[in-house]
Amino acid sequence: MEKSLLNVIKGKEVKRIPVWIMRQAGRYLPAYQKLRKKYDFLTLCQTPELAAEVTLQPVEILDVDAAILFSDILIPCLSLGFQVQFVEGKGPVVHNPVTSVEDIRNLNPDYSSRELESLSQTVKFINQQLPPEKALIGFTAAPFSLACYLIEGASSKNFLQVKSFLYDHTPSYRLLMEKVSEILFVYLKTQAEAGAEVLQLFDTWGGILSPSDFEKYVFPFLNKLIREVKKEYSLPLIYFMKGSGGFLSILKHLPVEVMSIDWTLDLERASESLEDRFVLQGNLDPAVLLSRREIIREKTTEILQKGKKVKGHIFNLGHGILPSTPVAHARYLVETVHNFG
Ligand code: CP3
Repeated sequence: MEKSLLNVIKGKEVKRIPVWIMRQAGRYLPAYQKLRKKYDFLTLCQTPELAAEVTLQPVEILDVDAAILFSDILIPCLSLGFQVQFVEGKGPVVHNPVTSVEDIRNLNPDYSSRELESLSQTVKFINQQLPPEKALIGFTAAPFSLACYLIEGASSKNFLQVKSFLYDHTPSYRLLMEKVSEILFVYLKTQAEAGAEVLQLFDTWGGILSPSDFEKYVFPFLNKLIREVKKEYSLPLIYFMKGSGGFLSILKHLPVEVMSIDWTLDLERASESLEDRFVLQGNLDPAVLLSRREIIREKTTEILQKGKKVKGHIFNLGHGILPSTPVAHARYLVETVHNFG
């Protein structure tokens, strides 16, 4: 059975444009809320049967063309000995963030950890149940976005502690990025070996730095991690950064197949800036799904038309789906994409 998402990445013709939605499993789905009443978030992530069930919910309910493993970008912190909590309405909190070089030197990744075993089991359970025309996407954070949480301890508007740390303690920052990259490699490897078919790197916070600081403090680690994954596995990779507009001349050197862009960029112009090297993923504003159907159809069609002019197009939102999105609107989006052309 042909998987449209993989075919687009390979440059093959497809009958329908593939579509999936970032954060497609989650609170906007009543089926997810029902399970969440019984189990806390970490239990859902760490119990393979439950994580597989949640992963498959949007595939069944929305008919998206890919499943994305249910987990969180903060889970690898657990294998590094951090205490992570997901606080309702606040997001993730790291209770013992790094403050000194000693903290970083003392980080000892536990590769035998429960998290890695359940991750591998989850991928296998998903693949046993995933319809053959759907692809399975594995993911991790990109190194910088994970390091942001380890330094700042939580989400932040401007990550001032991260910036101070990288300017004032550059060698410690680099050591942290090396250790984080190492554990992320293991998480990516575990998913690849268990049967993930595509890997996405979420670099949500990459855009908080100036392009020249990004080039100096972020790009080398990112590039190295991607090259190491590529050396061992032939899977395609997707890179997502929020607010990547000012960074495209740097990002075009990343050895990934797919560049995922947000709605502040024009799909065609972004492709030109990237010298048409990548299949593009995106880029509907998630807020559009809160609007009425005519608006959803109009904005979606506009993006689909631009998508015909780029190297290849995987439809997605420009960032995660909002918790207040009506499920019917998400379903309508998928239908609109599938019925296009
Ligand atoms: O996409 C999916 O369906 C797969 C699962 C997934 C989750 N988080 C589940 C989740 C993925 C791919 C992520 C990635 C993630 N997590 C990112 C990168 C993407 C992005 O949105 O920028 C980031 C920055 C996080 C960190 C995080 N985790 C935040 C800020 C929050 C709280 C805010 C929020 O959106 O809920 C989480 C918690 C989280 N991760 C939930 C889910 C379903 C909600 C937990 C709950 O049920 O209460």
